[in-house]
Amino acid sequence: MLVDALNRPLLDLRISVTDRCNFRCVYCMPETDGKTYCFMKKSQLMTFEEIVRLANIFVSLGVRKIRLTGGEPLLRKDIDVLISMLNKIEGLQDISVTTNGFLLKRYASRLKQAGIHRVNVSLDAINDDVFSAINGVGVKSKSILEGIDEAVRQGIAVKVNMVVKKGMNDTEVLPMARYFKEKGITLRFIEFMDVGSINGWKLDEVLTSKNIFDMISQEMPLEPLERNYLGEVAKRYRYIGTDTEVGFISSVSHPFCADCTRCRLSAEGKIYTCLFASDGVDLLTNIRNGASDQDLISQIESVWQVRKDRYSEVRGKNTTLKGKRIEMSYIGG
Ligand code: GTP
Ligand code: 5AD
Ligand code: SF4
Ligand code: SF4
Repeated sequence: MLVDALNRPLLDLRISVTDRCNFRCVYCMPETDGKTYCFMKKSQLMTFEEIVRLANIFVSLGVRKIRLTGGEPLLRKDIDVLISMLNKIEGLQDISVTTNGFLLKRYASRLKQAGIHRVNVSLDAINDDVFSAINGVGVKSKSILEGIDEAVRQGIAVKVNMVVKKGMNDTEVLPMARYFKEKGITLRFIEFMDVGSINGWKLDEVLTSKNIFDMISQEMPLEPLERNYLGEVAKRYRYIGTDTEVGFISSVSHPFCADCTRCRLSAEGKIYTCLFASDGVDLLTNIRNGASDQDLISQIESVWQVRKDRYSEVRGKNTTLKGKRIEMSYIGG
């Protein structure tokens, strides 16, 4: 088994399929006055064949789960074709997508037919004033909620991710919890993280999982559950007396680097061994220069074997750790 310098196996691969997004979330890709983001050109993106080739190689090295991310992955043309191709890889146990849900209503049946097992949908508020102000493009929650309903109707397992930031959407914690408890859908609260450098992150804007847990459990008591798999980022609970779960992703207050088994592949074919990495290692240029599978295996092994990343643990309360960092929309979380 391929393990890193801290003995962590390589088990999960997150593949970004595009750096574009149809949202402009304030904590990720905020709208800039007049300035436009500089996105990758089509020729810079990995083709489906290149993605599948790399996915096969990663599976041969021990990866068991693949998650497609963006930007917004459903903006990548024919994403369902890619999913069908990935589904043929022997040894791969789980394929999923993390999406903002705007196109989910339209795509759910195609995703299901392509063999998608589950989707994680990002939704930060139900109240439309709050939600529109966060997504930056005036989208209302109804369109995302309908996408979620359609995915469930298609038999896709859905989890909802809510990034919580003080003063942004703390008033939505209870309405969201009530809504998804009623629906029987897992909602996970994510602490606002210091990813990238354009979101103006400040420690005192983080509403911790403990704060959120206390808010919810006063009204809806919770009991803890065992984790589902090694490297799971969410701490799981169940509403007492129901089968409905709720999760907390506490990368600021309780970092989980010790179990971090994930590698990230950007849409332009660079691997990043940490969400907070400053730079990646370019595989795509080598592929396009004729690298053999064995060359690529050796390149990935040599990156993973020396990996020592544990950014969130090292950062601790030291919020002055700065420097060049990739943006969330580039690597898909
Ligand atoms: P499951 O397979 O359903 O457990 O998904 P997941 O939680 O691994 O993936 P998802 O895309 O839903 O991520 C939820 C949140 O956790 C996002 O905000 C991610 O950025 C964050 N996250 C995922 N992996 C890591 C990680 O390795 N480190 C940190 N710091 N955050 C992570
Ligand atoms: N902190 C925490 N989560 C974030 N996400 C995007 N930016 C941040 C941030 N700064 C979340 C998205 C999505 C997931 C992939 O990452 O809302 O749920
Ligand atoms: Fe929002 Fe996700 Fe798009 Fe970033 S990538 S702007 S978090 S929808
Ligand atoms: Fe993994 Fe880096 Fe996140 Fe720690 S901060 S859990 S090493 S991705």
